[in-house]
Amino acid sequence: MKVSVVGTGYVGLVSGVCLAERGHSVLCVDADPDKVAMINAARAPIHEPGLPELLQRHVGRRLRASADLPAAVAASELTFIAVGTPAADGGIDLRQVERAAAAIGTALRAIDRYHTVIVKSTVIPGTTAGVVRSALEAASGKQAGRDFGLGMNPEFLTEGTAVDDFMNPDRLVFGGIDARTHGVLEELYAGFDAAVPRIRTNPGTAEMIKYASNAVLATMVSFANEIARLCAAIGGVDAVEVLQGVHQASYFTARRGPERSTAGIAAFLLPGCGFGGSCLPKDVAALVGQARGLGLEPALLQSVLAINRGQADEVMKLIARHYPAAGGAPSLDGVNVTTLGIAFKPDTDDVRESPAFPIIARLRAAGARVMAYDPVARSAAHAGLAGVSLAATLEAAVAGAEIVVLVTRWPEFSRLAGLLRGRARPPLVVDGRRMLEPSAFARYEGIGL
Ligand SMILES: NC(=O)c1ccc[n+]([C@@H]2O[C@H](COP(=O)([O-])OP(=O)(O)OC[C@H]3O[C@@H](n4cnc5c(N)ncnc54)[C@H](O)[C@@H]3O)[C@@H](O)[C@H]2O)c1
Repeated sequence: MKVSVVGTGYVGLVSGVCLAERGHSVLCVDADPDKVAMINAARAPIHEPGLPELLQRHVGRRLRASADLPAAVAASELTFIAVGTPAADGGIDLRQVERAAAAIGTALRAIDRYHTVIVKSTVIPGTTAGVVRSALEAASGKQAGRDFGLGMNPEFLTEGTAVDDFMNPDRLVFGGIDARTHGVLEELYAGFDAAVPRIRTNPGTAEMIKYASNAVLATMVSFANEIARLCAAIGGVDAVEVLQGVHQASYFTARRGPERSTAGIAAFLLPGCGFGGSCLPKDVAALVGQARGLGLEPALLQSVLAINRGQADEVMKLIARHYPAAGGAPSLDGVNVTTLGIAFKPDTDDVRESPAFPIIARLRAAGARVMAYDPVARSAAHAGLAGVSLAATLEAAVAGAEIVVLVTRWPEFSRLAGLLRGRARPPLVVDGRRMLEPSAFARYEGIGL
């Protein structure tokens, strides 16, 4: 099938190259000329394992990038909207989606055959059948369902494993306004494993499946962190051991004979310094915003966000055990603190809503001299890194540190114990991900310990 993808960020570009890998002919459209040029040179604008290889294989053959949206729509049968939907006060900012839909609608006016438009961006329930449909119909002068197909096909990929997630999805959700749109989606995904469940529904339900999926993950994280706070307050009870004990229940760890397999969701049910990224915080906040707009008080989801916001303070409380000051906050005047990890999770360069930023802000407010290190996310451009020096290597990052705060679960950080061994004045290590062995450090604190 001839496919165009409007917006080639983490989702749009990965979707585009993976659809090319499945045999489709793909045109990636982006408003950013630098991204277009990089993609056409088969260079990945983002760090994502497997992406460079797929770009090398398909650019110039089954995949091309362009800034010319009308031409891309005219040359394709189906157009995905995969632009950003950033957080806005109490909801999401739909302007990129509205602009893309209007531009696609204008392009549709000029073509005289059936075309299908599919929303892949995460949008609050009601958006596809509401503002997207209105923008398309107003700009095209055509009618959805009669002249063009319209649907919502949420994306469940996770950064760091995005290519594999797209190629081998756990489910495919088709939210179409009519049977013809469903037929187009079936055809598009026909090359994917037939055993993967296809959920055929309306656009609003498809939109809600995406939000509910992210909300349950965020809830697991905040649940684990609430249990961790309680464990730490009791004393002598380690939240990691507690939650690993919970993981062994048959509803998390299935047994088939001697084989045991733990459900992926158990990874969210562990203590840590909080969830971040471009999805979980924004999506839960948007759901809360929509609920409140409907006159509901979503107490559980509000608590999920409040607990998450509090995790930076939990890190500071661990530091305050060694650097006490009045009022509970530590006094870190002139203390050299290194934070390990800027990306919100390992295997990505995405720093959006990273837990590193609220931790760095509190460290700086307490007077610390902060250095940060990340194996991949190295851009100093982010406002959250103002006044922070960036280290080029892990060795340089910890060389002069009096406190080391581990924020991101990068595998490289397991070298920390070896690097600090034998130091005359070992730093305090604060493990925000509980990935280190406490006994390997002279001075160690961990969330939930
Ligand atoms: N990043 C993830 O892990 C992930 C996972 C699932 C769903 N989502 C959702 O997918 C959507 C996209 O997320 P992302 O992380 O890829 O965003 P992103 O910010 O990385 O990419 C968006 C891209 O759209 C381009 N763009 C914006 N308006 C445009 C227009 N009118 N014409 C052409 N290009 C335009 C931007 O230049 C940018 O390259 C969001 O709704 C997000 O919530 C993201």
